[in-house]
Amino acid sequence: MQKKKVVIWAWYVNILTYKNDMHLSLNRNTMYIQEDWFIIRDFHKDDIPRLRLLADNYNIYINLTYTFPHPYTLKDAEWRVNHNISLWEKAESFAIEVNWEFAWSCWIRHKWWDQWKTWNIGYRLGEEYRWKWLASKICKSIVNYGFNTFDAIRIEAWVFWWNPASMKVLEKNGFIREWTLRNRIWKDWKSTDEVFFSILRSEFIT
Ligand SMILES: CC(C)(COP(=O)(O)OP(=O)(O)OC[C@H]1O[C@@H](n2cnc3c(N)ncnc32)[C@H](O)[C@@H]1OP(=O)(O)O)[C@@H](O)C(=O)NCCC(=O)NCCS
Repeated sequence: MQKKKVVIWAWYVNILTYKNDMHLSLNRNTMYIQEDWFIIRDFHKDDIPRLRLLADNYNIYINLTYTFPHPYTLKDAEWRVNHNISLWEKAESFAIEVNWEFAWSCWIRHKWWDQWKTWNIGYRLGEEYRWKWLASKICKSIVNYGFNTFDAIRIEAWVFWWNPASMKVLEKNGFIREWTLRNRIWKDWKSTDEVFFSILRSEFIT
């Protein structure tokens, strides 16, 4: 508890000190990034109603894996936010705020066993926030965080073939399109390919 208070205080200092510059905290237990118009921070319970509103959207559902429900209920939003809060120590899932409003999330997850030095990323934005290359900046921030915070050698992302915006986001951030797995996805009674992207530490430019 005491530890969390210190971290919150540290964020407060960040807000005051780095008002206009992008800032990345390298603390293992938190990430706080602020630009002029967006913030990456931990999840709060207050995020539940807006998450429900943004996530209950077929155009988003169609690009995400089978665990993402549709329709997206208040209960789903509650579960997701509480789950992310419960994993606070891991510092892997973060909320995105635009102009002080919850815009959704990004995450980075550790893989296991023989992929021990590999991390997997993802990002989601409400439809109304697809402007100003926000997703590209969020992707850059999370990759930066991954390589600077963890001992990752490789960061990867998988995209459904019918999601060109997400592929562009990754390519603009130096990810290499490695492989296409044919008809790997079955979503909403349609099949599509899944495209694998990765960036290695040696290719990463801050
Ligand atoms: C994927 C997602 C994050 C992209 O958000 P965004 O705000 O459009 O992203 P950006 O503006 O940073 O970049 C998108 C790029 O793709 C391009 N693009 C968008 N739609 C496109 C399309 N149909 N075909 C080709 N390019 C497209 C944009 O022009 C832009 O390129 P530019 O920078 O050269 O102009 C957003 O659509 C989203 O949240 N989708 C739902 C969740 C999701 O799909 N997550 C990723 C799962 S892998």
